[in-house]
Amino acid sequence: MKQILNYLALTILLLISSIYVHAHNLTDTTLRKELFFKLGAAIKVDLLKTSPAYRKLIAREFNSITAENAMKFISLHPAENTYRWENADYLVNFANQNNIRVHGHTLLWPSNNPAWIRNYQGDKEAWDNLLKSHIQTVVKHFKGKVASWDVVNEAYESNGSLKKNIWLQKLGKEYIEKSFQYAHEADPNVLLFYNDYGQEYSVAKREAILKMAKNLINKGIHIDGIGIQMHTALSIDNQKLINVINNMAKSGLKIHISELEVSLNSMSKAKLLDESLAKKQAEKYLVIFSSYSKIPRSQQYGITTWNVSDKDAFSNSANSSRSPLLFDKNYNPKPAYKTLLKSLSNR
Ligand code: GLA
Repeated sequence: MKQILNYLALTILLLISSIYVHAHNLTDTTLRKELFFKLGAAIKVDLLKTSPAYRKLIAREFNSITAENAMKFISLHPAENTYRWENADYLVNFANQNNIRVHGHTLLWPSNNPAWIRNYQGDKEAWDNLLKSHIQTVVKHFKGKVASWDVVNEAYESNGSLKKNIWLQKLGKEYIEKSFQYAHEADPNVLLFYNDYGQEYSVAKREAILKMAKNLINKGIHIDGIGIQMHTALSIDNQKLINVINNMAKSGLKIHISELEVSLNSMSKAKLLDESLAKKQAEKYLVIFSSYSKIPRSQQYGITTWNVSDKDAFSNSANSSRSPLLFDKNYNPKPAYKTLLKSLSNR
């Protein structure tokens, strides 16, 4: 009997210590270390330059970064004969110093052009040269420093038709394939993505994107992956999020969840991040991360949240109670972060 009691006591002790060790490990580690894929964030260069706390958090928590704005056409090429590299170079240097991958965003956002593009006069050949020279100048500038590019951002309407914009008007629908072709010519090693929002709500849009990608491949034009932005919210049905990940993955291309936010509420309504909402947010994040973990590993390019903390979140500028990210306004990990760490830990 005494032996049995001793044995039981030992077993209980072992159990307690293994729970302790596991919990202890988890406080020592970070989510990025535990995931098989990259964890990314969109970065504000101004904050990177001025806030040591922001830099520290990024260097500790993320192994991929995307410039929120610094690599957009409007930022890099604000006038016909002017390129401004300073902010984007700053971000790239920070990434290199901290061993972080850089995802370039974006070579062409056809509905978001600088004023000089909107006023540009020229025939089809001139527009084609303009597209080629912008894309190739930018890709060559960052050659070897940027791992991948969103070549074209947001070209489709939710009904699957092409969005009307100046590039479509001047160059026809071929502007998409030309963009991929010019980018690949400038750096054959850089990975090329098509990036868009709303594929989770619209099957027509999703199919149009997959068809375009297939078309490029059939024509021998280089494309490596698809970016699913996923600016989503608690109110969105889980199944929609799971379906979009699985459906896009059927293409065989790399999948980047490229701008993830899980907002507490839609634009108009204010909500407070109380315990119950924080739990729901954690569950939604877990659904997304777990579904993503199940697609083939070679297709997992990573999950990037759109900004770092609720303090700098893009959505919070429209409504300060959307609280969509993994870190709170004081840069502390939220319940969503802790849930992911606990559930997806590989150790
Ligand atoms: C799109 C763009 C991003 C960013 C967001 C803001 O998703 O791709 O660069 O501007 O809009 O919502």
